[in-house]
Amino acid sequence: MKILVTGGAGMIGLETSRQLLEAGHEVSVFDLGEQIFRVRDHIDKRIKVYYGSILDLPTLREAVKGCEVIIHLAAMLGVQRTEENMLKCIETNINGTQNVFTCAVQAGVRKVVFASSSEIYGEISENPIKEEYVPQGKTVYAVTKLAGEEICKSYKQGYGIEYTILRYFNCYGPFQTAQFVIPKFVLNIKEGLPIEIYGSGTQMRSYTYVGDSARATMLAALMREADSQILNIGEGKTPVSLLDLANMVIRLAGKEGKVKPVIKEDFRDCDRVKAREIFMRYCDSSKAAKILGWTAQTPLEQGIKTLIDKDCIFRSWNNYYH
Ligand SMILES: NC(=O)c1ccc[n+]([C@@H]2O[C@H](COP(=O)([O-])OP(=O)(O)OC[C@H]3O[C@@H](n4cnc5c(N)ncnc54)[C@H](O)[C@@H]3O)[C@@H](O)[C@H]2O)c1
Repeated sequence: MKILVTGGAGMIGLETSRQLLEAGHEVSVFDLGEQIFRVRDHIDKRIKVYYGSILDLPTLREAVKGCEVIIHLAAMLGVQRTEENMLKCIETNINGTQNVFTCAVQAGVRKVVFASSSEIYGEISENPIKEEYVPQGKTVYAVTKLAGEEICKSYKQGYGIEYTILRYFNCYGPFQTAQFVIPKFVLNIKEGLPIEIYGSGTQMRSYTYVGDSARATMLAALMREADSQILNIGEGKTPVSLLDLANMVIRLAGKEGKVKPVIKEDFRDCDRVKAREIFMRYCDSSKAAKILGWTAQTPLEQGIKTLIDKDCIFRSWNNYYH
């Protein structure tokens, strides 16, 4: 199958493209030059690479030509970055998604797999979270992802183009930016910097290794059973508190007894403010298990160990949005 991955030089995109190629598909990636430059040595030579923005219709149209499926991962993310650049976030994530669908319809693409997010659930009173729960996103990013989901449904109605919406829950892995908690803890411990926890440290999350998230993405792209479905993609069986996560990173890095997490109750210097913090959120992915035959398989300790052993974390974002 000929498949285009937008945001294909990002964390989930790189791994999804790699898995698709390994499974024998013809893969192209579309991403910003700034990002491709950072990871080009990790993109297989057999993958065709398009440099550009999803806001640039002519370049996108060229990349979409002849594809059967588009996996649309390109987005502006990161709580602090998107809250500080709300219009840019809206433009990229909403207009960009609309552009992807416009090109998809013009090129006769069968289906778009859309990267949504657990952020759309906001603070929810019941865990684990199921797909039918009413969304109540707290951030501009969440709102753009909800808008993206609506774009998927409207293009299905208007043009008959298929979609699968994947709501990823806290994914982590190689080539992630250290604005997210796991790569930040890992990079800090490797560089001798403090491991800081904002709030009480009791916030519960579940984390999914990128290899697992990418496998779900590939299955969603290939399987017709996933058409018109919304699926939670996350490890939900072993939620962990921030404090336990910090101690796990310290232990796996061999610094137990030498380093202690620093608790900062007041959220100062944090990219989340207290009002926007989500204290408990983990996932029921039984629908993905039923439809895709997918469950997360990588234990958290194993995923974290991979990050500790490899030199594969970016301290900051690529400079496109600065
Ligand atoms: N990582 C997670 O935990 C998580 C959770 C929920 C949802 N998601 C969603 O999954 C998708 C992939 O996330 P990721 O973790 O791989 O993030 P990432 O930042 O590593 O990848 C996103 C990619 O999109 C690219 N991009 C941004 N703006 C673009 C533009 N205008 N044109 C073309 N490319 C552009 C970036 O350069 C980057 O390579 C995103 O849509 C994200 O919102 C991720």
